[in-house]
Amino acid sequence: MTDYNAPNNVNELEIVNTYDLRDAAEEVIPHGGYHYITGGAGDEFTLERNDSAFRQKGIVPRVAQNVEFPDTSTKIFEHEIKVPFIMAPIAAHGLAHETKEAGTARGIREFGGTIMSISAYSGATFEEIQEGLQDTPRWFQIYMSKDDEFNKNILDEAKSDGATAIILTADSTVSGNRDRDDKNKFVYPFGMPIVSRYLTGDGKNMSLNNIYAQSKQKISLDDIRFIKEYTGLPVFLKGVQSPDDALAGIGAGADGIWVSNHGGRQLDGAPGSFEVLESIAKAVNKRVPIVFDSGIRRGEHMFKALASGADIVAIGRPALWGLGLGGWKGVQSVFEYFEKDLKRVMQLAGTQTIEDVKNAKLIDLK
Ligand code: LAC
Repeated sequence: MTDYNAPNNVNELEIVNTYDLRDAAEEVIPHGGYHYITGGAGDEFTLERNDSAFRQKGIVPRVAQNVEFPDTSTKIFEHEIKVPFIMAPIAAHGLAHETKEAGTARGIREFGGTIMSISAYSGATFEEIQEGLQDTPRWFQIYMSKDDEFNKNILDEAKSDGATAIILTADSTVSGNRDRDDKNKFVYPFGMPIVSRYLTGDGKNMSLNNIYAQSKQKISLDDIRFIKEYTGLPVFLKGVQSPDDALAGIGAGADGIWVSNHGGRQLDGAPGSFEVLESIAKAVNKRVPIVFDSGIRRGEHMFKALASGADIVAIGRPALWGLGLGGWKGVQSVFEYFEKDLKRVMQLAGTQTIEDVKNAKLIDLK
């Protein structure tokens, strides 16, 4: 993978749906990178279930609700956002496009009114991302080092970059079993500047297995306390799939629960992320906000997640497919697609506001 030629074109996309977007992305993103982005763990049971789980619930199309021009705006912490979806903290955007995370950042800024999550496994530096983001709000996702001094340095940088929350990813203490990457002998073709201080090597030509092995395995509730105390910022516990873990996280001071199974990339055999959302939301009982990811591909999925207790959702792979196909303009097109799709769903479901969506009752189709 030494000659990795990521796409570099910048153009708007006409998106019919994100499944076709994925297939189009396969044509332009180099093989190893495309499969790293798109694949999941093991036999991809969980990856598939993240999508099919949405079929277990139906949206009731309410009529005569006096709805026009649905309002998708909402609020999370201090951020007033124009849509209930943000960019997920996904690694290594440079696999999809030469502009790396800076391209995604610009797409998010041009779309406007939402939040960028920056992954510790970014291939771009904070400075490069800043060129794209400018005054866009950002959250920082951390993969911790075994050494807290390194963690402090990384958190200091994230804070001075302007992060308004820290996302602690807790579901990736080792790498999931990525068959596609093993077959492709996938290694990152570029380094990871943010975490390179704790890697042996800078990340370039390293496998994910190798990189995760050098990060911290023994993640505990103390890590939530540490990050919160050290940064003074709100902390999300990410990778939550169980009500008990959500409650323990809140008990340790987590300011938000991030329901995710890492896009089906970690423990294969786990349920679809949507299947566990409702029970977690019941346990959390609105004490802290819930972010949901893993499987959002349509406006209907967003609607169902919000109606099942999520406050906002995060978009991962579709943004990277869009980045590969159209650079920053492609990312903007993906976010515009989701906005338009969600508004259509809200109109047809008879819901004027995000509060209405959250109060909508889904029907059990199992
Ligand atoms: C992944 C990590 C790096 O590949 O987030 O899933």
